[in-house]
Amino acid sequence: MLKVKLKDITFDTPILVASGTYGYGNEVEGLADVSKLGGIITKSVTRLPREGNPPPRITETAAGMLNSIGLANLGVEAYCKEKIPFLNELDTKIIINVAGTAMSDYIETFEMLENHGGNHVGYEINISCPNVKEGGMEFGVSPKMTEQLTKELRSRTDRILIMKLSPNVTRIQDIGLAAEAGGADAVSAINTVVGMGIDVKKRKVKLHTIYGGLSGPAIKPVALACVHKLNKVLSIPIIGLGGISTAEDVLEFILAGADLVQVGTINYKHPSRGMTICDDLIAFCKENNMSNILELQGQLDK
Ligand SMILES: Cc1cc2nc3c(=O)[nH]c(=O)nc-3n(C[C@H](O)[C@H](O)[C@H](O)COP(=O)(O)O)c2cc1C
Repeated sequence: MLKVKLKDITFDTPILVASGTYGYGNEVEGLADVSKLGGIITKSVTRLPREGNPPPRITETAAGMLNSIGLANLGVEAYCKEKIPFLNELDTKIIINVAGTAMSDYIETFEMLENHGGNHVGYEINISCPNVKEGGMEFGVSPKMTEQLTKELRSRTDRILIMKLSPNVTRIQDIGLAAEAGGADAVSAINTVVGMGIDVKKRKVKLHTIYGGLSGPAIKPVALACVHKLNKVLSIPIIGLGGISTAEDVLEFILAGADLVQVGTINYKHPSRGMTICDDLIAFCKENNMSNILELQGQLDK
C-alpha cells in the first residue's frame, strides 16, 4: 500500500528521514526501527571536515526551530571509512546528502563517494550553501549553476540523483526546471527558510550567525506551496518536506503533488514518528479502499 518507485528503485514506504535530523541512522539505534522507513538521508557531507558555526546555533521558536549548524561534518574521507560500512548494514535504503562551497568541491566529494562504492541507492545534493567562487552567492538561487552542477553530477552516477531546493528564492520553479534540464531524477523541497530570533531581555540575537534556517511545523504552508508550484511545471518526481509531523501532513503533501516525503525536525522529539506515520497511512488506505497511497495524487480540488 505504501510502495513507491523512484527511477529503478522501489521504496517500501514514501517516508524518508531528512538530512541533518537523523544523524547516520546510528543515533536512533534502539529508539526506532529504521526498517519501517522508506530510507534515511544522511547528514550533508563535504569534501573537507567542517566544525560548523560557533554556538549558539540552535534555538526553539513557537512552532519549530532555528538552526545555524553550518554543515558540521567529518568530511568525505572519514565518511567513507567510518560511516559507509555501518550504513551498508542498515536494513533500509540510504541516500547520501552532499554539500559543497564550489563546483569543484561537489564534484570531488561525489567522485570519492562513487569510487568508494557502497549500497546507497542515491544522492541528495544540498545546493543551499554559499558558493565562495561566485562571491558568496548560493548555488540554489541560480538556475544556470543548478543546471550545470546537476549535469556534472549526472554524468558521474547512475544512482538516483535528487537536487534539494531552497525556498529562499524568487521562483522555485525556475530552479526545479534547471535541475530537471540537468538530468536530475527528482527534486526535494524544501530546505530551511531564512529566519532570526531576538532575546529582548538581553537585547541580543539568539543565534551567533544572526540568521539561521527555520524548520518544523511553522514552515509547512511554505513547503506545501513550493511543492504545488513545482508540480505544475515539472515532469520528474517531487519529494516534499518541511514541517511534516503527522500522517495528515503527508496526505497534504501528496495532494499538493509529492511522490515521497521526508520527516525532519519532529525526529528530535519523536525519533520513531516516521514509523508511526507509516502505520497511520496504511490505516488511511484501508479506510478509503485504496491499494496505494499515491492514488491520492491529482485529487486536489481547487
Ligand atoms: C538541525 C538541522 C540540521 C540540518 N542539517 C541539514 C544538512 O546537513 N543538510 C541538508 O540538506 N539539510 C539539513 N537540514 C534541513 C532539513 O533536512 C529539512 O530540509 C528542513 O529542516 C525542513 O524539514 P523539517 O521542517 O521537517 O525539519 C537540517 C535541519 C535541521 C533542523
